Amino acid sequence: MPLSCIDLSPRMGSEVKITKSELMSGRRASEIRALLDQRGILLFRGLAPDDSELRAIARTLGDLRIGAAKRTADGKTLTEGEEGILKVSLDETVNPEYARFLIGNHLWHMDGTYEEIPPLATLFTPFRLSKTGGDTMFANTYAAFDDLPDGEKAELEKLRVVHTMQAALFPAKRDCTPEEFAVWYSYPQRLHPLVWHHRSGRKSLVLSTSGAYVEGMHPAESHDLLQRLMAHATQEKYTYRHKWRMGDLVIWDNTGAMHRVMPFDRESGREFHRATLNGEESVTATSDRLVPASIRVSA
Ligand code: OGA
Ligand code: MN
Repeated sequence: MPLSCIDLSPRMGSEVKITKSELMSGRRASEIRALLDQRGILLFRGLAPDDSELRAIARTLGDLRIGAAKRTADGKTLTEGEEGILKVSLDETVNPEYARFLIGNHLWHMDGTYEEIPPLATLFTPFRLSKTGGDTMFANTYAAFDDLPDGEKAELEKLRVVHTMQAALFPAKRDCTPEEFAVWYSYPQRLHPLVWHHRSGRKSLVLSTSGAYVEGMHPAESHDLLQRLMAHATQEKYTYRHKWRMGDLVIWDNTGAMHRVMPFDRESGREFHRATLNGEESVTATSDRLVPASIRVSA
């Protein structure tokens, strides 16, 4: 029997009707992986997985990320949550290491663009919701690329973009201190092609707020191109906006989609539990890691 699913929007997202035990059994894992690739996000209502169930579901679909995901230039390691579960919260008492990076989640992004092989997918379930705001939006970067004129596609395929932590976080926190900026700046930068040629043969735009500039292009042209592509890829026809209910499980594809969280009340304690699947292919074999020169911070 095929998976029972309903489209959430014409070009992005499917709700899948399956019981928790069937999902955890892994019997439908290859169909779920294929559907995720096609639809960008999958929604399962009412499953309310606890942390060990979330890990178990993740492991049926891929390689669960455990620890040591982020490393600063000076060698400090930030762990990706406890045993594969990251608590996504802006409250530093809930997540002392990550909370200060999560402000960047408000802007359209892909996760882990600083890594040679960005994460494959994320499993995300609410632990506490904000009474107001806090929807998550998704944009399909396969569809956005597919719809461009052929000539433009060919031009974009020649370009590479430098992704940096400060490009992702500064627009979300313009009033940062020089020390905060220096921490962002200490992260490795990464050069990725603007167009991802996936092993499947499909192509998507590698767009994210972390995309600072196009290699070798005049800064003015680079700025305009990246802004125009971002505006193109986030048009309503390529997006889906998810209104959360407790019990939801959402899985998003991090290789052919962007996501963002909409504003919410910081005092709400909004918290999600997330499991990340390691990536399985680099954007290209030639993704280079750039190590920035260190900058001095005046006291
Ligand atoms: C993330 C993220 C969005 C949200 O965890 O990577 O972007 O809705 N989360 O909290
Ligand atoms: Mn994210």
